[in-house]
Amino acid sequence: MEGSRMRLCMAILFLLIFGIWNKRCSCAVVQFIFGDSLSDVGNNNYLTKSLARAALPWYGIDFESGMPNGRFTNGRTVADIIGDKLGLPRPPAFLDPSLDEDMIINSGVNYASGGGGILNETSSLFVQRFSLYKQIELFQGTQELIRRKIGREAADAFFEESRYVVAMGSNDFINNFLLPVYSDSWSYNGETFIDYLISTLEAQLKLLHSLGARQLTFFGLGPMGCIPLQRFMTSSGQCQQSTNKLALGFNKAATKLLDNLSSTLPNATFRFGDAYDSFQDLINRPYMFGFNDSHAPCCSLGKIRPTLTCTPLSTLCKDRSKYVFWDEYHPTDQANELIANEIMTKLGYKPTNDTSNP
Ligand SMILES: *[C@@H]1O[C@H](CO)[C@@H](O)[C@H](O)[C@H]1NC(C)=O
Ligand SMILES: *[C@@H]1O[C@H](CO)[C@@H](O)[C@H](O)[C@H]1NC(C)=O
Ligand SMILES: *[C@@H]1O[C@H](CO)[C@@H](O)[C@H](O)[C@H]1NC(C)=O
Ligand SMILES: *[C@@H]1O[C@H](CO)[C@@H](O)[C@H](O)[C@H]1NC(C)=O
Ligand SMILES: *[C@@H]1O[C@H](CO)[C@@H](O)[C@H](O)[C@H]1NC(C)=O
Repeated sequence: MEGSRMRLCMAILFLLIFGIWNKRCSCAVVQFIFGDSLSDVGNNNYLTKSLARAALPWYGIDFESGMPNGRFTNGRTVADIIGDKLGLPRPPAFLDPSLDEDMIINSGVNYASGGGGILNETSSLFVQRFSLYKQIELFQGTQELIRRKIGREAADAFFEESRYVVAMGSNDFINNFLLPVYSDSWSYNGETFIDYLISTLEAQLKLLHSLGARQLTFFGLGPMGCIPLQRFMTSSGQCQQSTNKLALGFNKAATKLLDNLSSTLPNATFRFGDAYDSFQDLINRPYMFGFNDSHAPCCSLGKIRPTLTCTPLSTLCKDRSKYVFWDEYHPTDQANELIANEIMTKLGYKPTNDTSNP
């Protein structure tokens, strides 16, 4: 009796496993990440001509071994923290020489590149970087590899079950529209430039959907007018309100776009992850959140400001966990944790109460 029941169970289990195996990929849920320096985990370190690289100390000082790893911060990125809290594996950098099909199936891929923008022309002064279009092109190459490895049907299921993160837009303002050396700065005004960005982003997100992306989160912009570089350019040291207004205008239009795409594209759950208000609050009242400084970069060359990156010659603040900004552009690990928690709360994910480093 027991034995035949056991055999029946085994047979059913066998059928279930192989039935699923045949139709779908039995792969883990992984992430494909598209972004700029806020999400880069090493791509630019392999772009040897890029002027935006986090290849030298003190980048990465609070991450694992403490050696530079390509992240433009002292510790984790916002995408690292959110992925960790959702229990998803950390995707390796696309240009990581050890990246192969098995790694992609087990961990996904991160295409983010310092300097990257929604627009192809953004950050051209950095010489080398992957724009969002370029990153999507690289993703299409990844899809081709996986199809050859596991077959079209299983690959389609794999890519439809994966999570997508797109975190872009800061450079389109900071390293394009707001710099008079770029022609976009005189061809557009704030409003028409945002329209141009949003219509480009719409085409890009639709392209990702056509390639199989179904669950996608877009991270909105923070108060860019308050990054140390922007404050440095005002005589009073205050935030540049005109820059913040552009970020808010972009976020508002992007929220509408994501809602629209989510309701019109088949099976799409496209969401806008916003932390603008609470990041602004952190900058305005750092003491309320256990921080001590929200103006100066933790890593700087003393009086020589601004510098493009943190360098081995720079000096570090005494307590990195008390600073909101790590360098002229990028938040610290500790600030990223707050941003990540806020995005998760807004998206309805319950943040685990875990502030541990990796
Ligand atoms: C942007 O760059 C991609 C290649 O990365 C190219 O295919 C596309 O045509 C370009 N788009 C525009 C508007 O220049
Ligand atoms: C979505 O956008 C399209 C065209 O851009 C527009 O016609 C439609 O009304 C929008 N739908 C919603 C729900 O906003
Ligand atoms: C949407 O989901 C349904 C049910 O899973 C599936 O049959 C259909 O093919 C999907 N459509 C697209 C465009 O993904
Ligand atoms: C907080 O910042 C002030 C001024 O920058 C500094 O004098 C003080 O030592 C800092 N305190 C801590 C705990 O970092
Ligand atoms: C998170 O943990 C800290 C200390 O470990 C505690 O003070 C705080 O109340 C916790 N927050 C929540 C929402 O549980």
